[in-house]
Amino acid sequence: MLYGPDEGDPRLRKNVAAWLTSFYQPETEISDARIAITGGASQNLACLLQVFTDPVYTRNVWIVSPSYMLAFRIFDDSGFHKKQRAVPEDDEGIDIEFLRREIRKSEEKAVNEGNDAPHIKPPRPWGKAYRHIIYAVPTFSNPSFKTMSLRRREELVRVAREYDALIITDDVYDFLQWPSNPKATNLSSDKAILPRVVDVDRFLDGGAEREGADGFGNAVSNGSFSKICGPGLRTGWAEGTEKLAYGVSQTGSSRSGGAPSQLTATFVAETLETGELQHFVFNTLQPTYGRRYQKIMTAINKELVPLGVVLPQTDRDVVGGYFIWLTLPEPLRGAVVAQRAKESENLIVAHGEIFEVPGDTEFAHFERGLRICFAWEDEKILAEGIERLASVVRSFQNGEGGAGSGEMKPGEQEAVKDFW
Ligand SMILES: Cc1ncc(COP(=O)(O)O)c(C=O)c1O
Repeated sequence: MLYGPDEGDPRLRKNVAAWLTSFYQPETEISDARIAITGGASQNLACLLQVFTDPVYTRNVWIVSPSYMLAFRIFDDSGFHKKQRAVPEDDEGIDIEFLRREIRKSEEKAVNEGNDAPHIKPPRPWGKAYRHIIYAVPTFSNPSFKTMSLRRREELVRVAREYDALIITDDVYDFLQWPSNPKATNLSSDKAILPRVVDVDRFLDGGAEREGADGFGNAVSNGSFSKICGPGLRTGWAEGTEKLAYGVSQTGSSRSGGAPSQLTATFVAETLETGELQHFVFNTLQPTYGRRYQKIMTAINKELVPLGVVLPQTDRDVVGGYFIWLTLPEPLRGAVVAQRAKESENLIVAHGEIFEVPGDTEFAHFERGLRICFAWEDEKILAEGIERLASVVRSFQNGEGGAGSGEMKPGEQEAVKDFW
């Protein structure tokens, strides 16, 4: 019950490092020093911004979009309200050419404005101000359900190195994976399908700590026990270069209070040491969520696809996470469908516009998007949920939706943004 070390409970750091090494199988093992224990991915995103950005010098936060909407306020809180930029995805994940082009423009603007040194934050040996932040959920993304290809991960690291960007990835769904094939009987697998962006940065072209580089690297992985153990634990970890992991542990609030989640970190350390947590993930969560996924996908293919609903990345062998992203056929609008689903079918789905980056929707707008969650409800009622959603879609298509089938009525526009 005392204050703990800034970097977090040593036993949890050691056990996390060993588990990540066995799951991601990097070329060389992950050292404890690459791990800092956090208060979860959200809390640590705030800490990373505190130590590694300057609200003036850091030009932009580039957010792969549609995006995890609760991250927006974390960027706002660090002074990036007007600097959030959306980066669209294609079928392979992030649109790298778009990102490169827009970063270049942002750099030209900074040069014209003479923005060439950190303005607000003092220099500190454990931190630095990156010129850009890139935020992504590369594997089984919330909300887009997509997985970024290895090729894109490599390109992303190269762009980040070229423009002094820190890529922050929420790798919170990676462990929740299973085969997409509905006939697959073994839904359990204890090896990751792809290296994380932080793994790519660690080894690509001489690695993050190559000669001439400053040693902080260009990627950090935000891990969390929220989805694999329990969100109330408020415990997670960050992995990056040893210099970066130490740097984030030096956030003022950790320096004063010790690592957040000190008490619960010791509980989690125990479950990893006994193997109980790994057993739970591979033998309970993966098969349970895998079955729910297969039930809901069977229903989607039967009920929604014939109505013109489209899914992303349908050719993957391995899928996972909590969510599936649907694109409705024209002219249906997600917000209107979600509202009617709630009112007439007592069915909750999240509509695409809540995942748009505030103030930057020109190239990434999702008015036909819907995010559905298969992780929460019992597998027995998932098919019925999809049947109810299909009946809502059909009601619009049959002209029962009032003017324009899915057009917004006056007053509904405001409701859209308040939905969540
Ligand atoms: C992409 C993403 N990041 C972060 C979180 C929150 O993680 P934590 O509970 O570790 O703060 C979630 C939870 O929904 C999420 O989907």
